[in-house]
Amino acid sequence: MSAKQKLRLAILASGSGSNLQSIIDQCQQGLLDAEICLVISNNPEAGALKRAALAGIETICINHREFDKREKFDQAVVATLEKVGAELVVLAGFMRIISTLFLQAFPQRIINIHPSLLPSFPGLHVQLKAIEYGAKFSGCTVHFVDTGVDTGPIIVQAVVPILHDDSEETLAARILEQEHIIYPQAIQWIAAGRVKIIDRQVKILESEPPAATLINPLPSNG
Ligand code: GRF
Repeated sequence: MSAKQKLRLAILASGSGSNLQSIIDQCQQGLLDAEICLVISNNPEAGALKRAALAGIETICINHREFDKREKFDQAVVATLEKVGAELVVLAGFMRIISTLFLQAFPQRIINIHPSLLPSFPGLHVQLKAIEYGAKFSGCTVHFVDTGVDTGPIIVQAVVPILHDDSEETLAARILEQEHIIYPQAIQWIAAGRVKIIDRQVKILESEPPAATLINPLPSNG
């Protein structure tokens, strides 16, 4: 019997790729029952593409500027993901809104990380928004992606205090440290089959569920 199959991750990133790096590192250290089969970026300049190439991971740039409609771009991304047999789509600083077409191709199989404590501060520039609002705590959230912007079921969050002299940059840096911990953690829970969505609540099961039950057992030869 071969070793347990690893969950095939495809990571979509538009920027520097520090979250991608934390997942690469944990895969390399054998801490995740997962492997990265592809990194996709919509940005040819993304640091994420360089990080993946350095780690020997297959990369592809699908530049959204070359498509006249969001759906056409998403169709190209979905076709690429299906070709490599991606099982979990991991958005790591991917600066594109996901269309219904994309969501339907990977139901409950797309996750995202967001640098605030959702449902507070969805959208962009959220570290600055949390400071300007006067919040005392912010943090980060890993969630399933649904049709809204940063509204999907929450898998895990980490809390980060906002200090009186925080700038957008200092707060973002401390939040990123936590992102690099909770994103691989969420992926491992999913890889281990421990994540269950009930309505919009995500339950983390205590241990792995038993192997799938055979619904239509083959008739015996007797
Ligand atoms: C992170 O803050 C993440 O929460 C947000 O985009 C940023 C990506 O950073 N969605 P990096 O490219 O992973 O360094």
